[in-house]
Amino acid sequence: MEWKRDRYTISTDRARLDREAIHGFLRNSYWAKEIPRTVVDRSIDNALCFGVYDGPTQVGFARVISDFATFAYLGDVFVLESHRGRGLSKWLMEVILGHPDLQGLRRWSLATRDAHGLYERFGFRRPSNPDRLMEIVNMDIYRQEP
Ligand SMILES: CC(C)(COP(=O)(O)OP(=O)(O)OC[C@H]1O[C@@H](n2cnc3c(N)ncnc32)[C@H](O)[C@@H]1OP(=O)(O)O)[C@@H](O)C(=O)NCCC(=O)NCCS
Repeated sequence: MEWKRDRYTISTDRARLDREAIHGFLRNSYWAKEIPRTVVDRSIDNALCFGVYDGPTQVGFARVISDFATFAYLGDVFVLESHRGRGLSKWLMEVILGHPDLQGLRRWSLATRDAHGLYERFGFRRPSNPDRLMEIVNMDIYRQEP
């Protein structure tokens, strides 16, 4: 699917993604530091991906991991620095939450260090019962010897 606004496009076409640029951003991000290219490729291949483009150039990204019935996890959201502050991430959130394959889900989930304000605009809330949530987290996984 494709959405257009001014000079920007959002597309779910996986073939159009600039995997080099996505890896370039993610391996320097606070949440996926040093993630290998092969892992990024697999994560793209198995998710619903949204690329944001300025003409032909990819300037933003997000992906949704979902069963398309009950649950979705939103991850790897970014807009390149030179395109920030123009409402692109808010538009991206609108597009993602309005996607026809992601309607009627019981739960959406995400993790963020400092962008709570962005997601709160779209209905995300801090867990009302955090004592019911459990997780396994290995933040250093990409920095460990295999
Ligand atoms: C977060 C990010 C995607 C925002 O992209 P953007 O296109 O510049 O955002 P927008 O222009 O659509 O505006 C975002 C809105 O959310 C708000 N916001 C809340 N927390 C924010 C944060 N941590 N960073 C940026 N904006 C934030 C902004 O103030 C803005 O609100 P406003 O319209 O009232 O001014 C971008 O700054 C980015 O890629 N950051 C680095 C990667 C990252 O942190 N990703 C999120 C991981 S959960």
